[in-house]
Amino acid sequence: MKGRSLISIDDLRTAEVRDLVLSADSLSNDITPPDRLTTLTGCFIVLMFYEPSTRTRVSFEVAGERLGADVVNIAGDASSVVKGESIADNAMTLSALSFDLAVIRHSETGAPKEFARYFERPVLNAGDGVGEHPSQALTDALTAYRYFDIFAKKRPLSIVIVGDLAHSRVAHSNAKMWTMLGHGVTLVGPKSLMEKNPKSLVRGKGHVKTADELDEHLKGADVVMALRIQRERHGRKVVPSTGEYAKKYGLNARRLKMIPETALIMHPGPVNRGIEVQEEVYDDPRCKINEQVENGVFMRMALLAWALGRKLEV
Ligand code: CP
Repeated sequence: MKGRSLISIDDLRTAEVRDLVLSADSLSNDITPPDRLTTLTGCFIVLMFYEPSTRTRVSFEVAGERLGADVVNIAGDASSVVKGESIADNAMTLSALSFDLAVIRHSETGAPKEFARYFERPVLNAGDGVGEHPSQALTDALTAYRYFDIFAKKRPLSIVIVGDLAHSRVAHSNAKMWTMLGHGVTLVGPKSLMEKNPKSLVRGKGHVKTADELDEHLKGADVVMALRIQRERHGRKVVPSTGEYAKKYGLNARRLKMIPETALIMHPGPVNRGIEVQEEVYDDPRCKINEQVENGVFMRMALLAWALGRKLEV
């Protein structure tokens, strides 16, 4: 197969994470929407979203078009999968239609890997079940890089990720990526939502630890990332009440005072306002939630070029 797939952060070497962040960063400095490049002129990209998405789907679409590709969108409920076509058959069909690359989101963990076996060209995982969401983690790395050098070896950064860790593909990809870069990740949440095997997320020289109290970890944080409570993935009631959750784990005015002035506050979205993040947090200059969305386009431009083996020339 020509080109590269990205199913998991494990598909990248540390140097490639760096190259992708630097490429996306220079794109964000050098091009002004609606500038278009010709990097992917003549390429056909298919976006297969079998699960809802705003940020990821639209940013991949905008990224492809800004690079000059033709982008075809197929919503999961409009695909032949609803008539019983398997992921494998769906992949072979799209391969026969001569797409150069597929971006896929699916509610089943492992579905993009299965799709990639039959598609025979590059596949980018746009989020699979409780598996991974590598392009979101890379977007978060770009967002942080715009404020401090995440690749400097001076001191390990402290990344605090709070919320529904058991069901978060964003947390999985972020923990793997930050530890690959040598940083420390603290996963904070109630026991019922805690990652069951935190050690399995450690890559490189970083470390992952877990905690059920948030406040004591805020003082030394470089990044505080809140996650969405993913009720659609809870088989039974695992959070006692949203009020209780917001009090123990939500980012609010009281916690803003505990977070260092130089730290960044992130959330991959979509946000349950008033639960994970209170309104006042949005007005704080440390809050980078909208910048994460903007950066998503630049990171996905860099990723599409990387996957198709094209050199980005601005
Ligand atoms: N962060 C993220 O995956 O958001 P969407 O579900 O809107 O794509």
